[in-house]
Amino acid sequence: MLAIIARTGESCPALVDVPEPEPPGEDEVLCRTLEVGICGTDREILESTKPRVPAGSQFLILGHESLARVEQVGPGVDSFCPGDLVSPMVRRPPTPHVRADMLAFGNFTERGIVEEHGFTPPFWLDRPEHLCKVDPRLRSVAILAEPVSVVEKAINEAVIIQTARLAEFCDDWTPRVLVTGMGPIAFAAILACRCRGWVVTVHGRDPRDSKRATTVGLWNADYVPMTEDVTDQFDVERDGFDLVLECTGNDRVMLSSARHLASCGVMAWLGSSRLPRSGEHDVSTLMRDAVLRNHVHLGSVNAARRDIIDALAHLGDAIERWPQAADAMITTRLDPKESLWHYQHREPQGIKAILDYGCE
Ligand code: BGC
Repeated sequence: MLAIIARTGESCPALVDVPEPEPPGEDEVLCRTLEVGICGTDREILESTKPRVPAGSQFLILGHESLARVEQVGPGVDSFCPGDLVSPMVRRPPTPHVRADMLAFGNFTERGIVEEHGFTPPFWLDRPEHLCKVDPRLRSVAILAEPVSVVEKAINEAVIIQTARLAEFCDDWTPRVLVTGMGPIAFAAILACRCRGWVVTVHGRDPRDSKRATTVGLWNADYVPMTEDVTDQFDVERDGFDLVLECTGNDRVMLSSARHLASCGVMAWLGSSRLPRSGEHDVSTLMRDAVLRNHVHLGSVNAARRDIIDALAHLGDAIERWPQAADAMITTRLDPKESLWHYQHREPQGIKAILDYGCE
């Protein structure tokens, strides 16, 4: 069966034939892939030419965003049945039931990213504790559960911090939100915030009449091109934001958006480059503002089960309340065999490209 892989020393992905999995053993679930999402992490793994291959393997099978259907369950599995839709969790802790998303590097594996094969083959085995059941009504958007969960985590962490430290001032933190970027994580951020009823502004590089800027409007969010974002009249407390979701991973964008953070605000960093390029930037304004305005800068990676549950609930809300906007998140559907170009390039106005395995 087909798999899309990354090999040491190569920046191009390859299609290879890999053996079908054995029937599921004790406490195992056999899953059939319905869809796989392509993301910036896949492209960075390839660009690095140093995939973290599983022990004993010559390559890493890619694919960490997956929607699958349970095909068969092994003895002892009573939480899933054949036919269930599932979204697998990416990160795996060394012992069950710890919050893997908070572990330090070296203490976990990640399917399709760190030392465990991913989900691009049409069949794969997993254990029930790594799978989340998906309501069949979410079939059209559930492939977005993983990227949305990554944003849900950052938001949930920010809410925990703000609720604790601002308890005296507000019972219910309702931030004015700035999202920077126009990729899949930025759109996941818009979705997660709009489903919470928060007012959202998006800063991006696209002109106002571009397809993606128009898609921002479908969420009833405001779009402001980055070139227009600072005016002389800008007053950070009156016009600024309480939560910045930084989704570009670009240090310049981060520094300039930090200047929009009102007092007691949180900046969550969701994007970063795996291959950081050094640059010289003046961070003294960022530091001064952080001190004088009690800012929190919050790094966030991966997601807990709590966040995947929120992602699935919000995807359900989104298809009811903003069906056109939710539909517009998946911009490209590909036959897996025709997908390799997308593992190295982004389409100019694309948001999420997915592999479609042609199953109902
Ligand atoms: C994935 C996360 C993962 C991170 C780091 C992201 O693309 O969405 O689940 O933890 O990469 O490897």
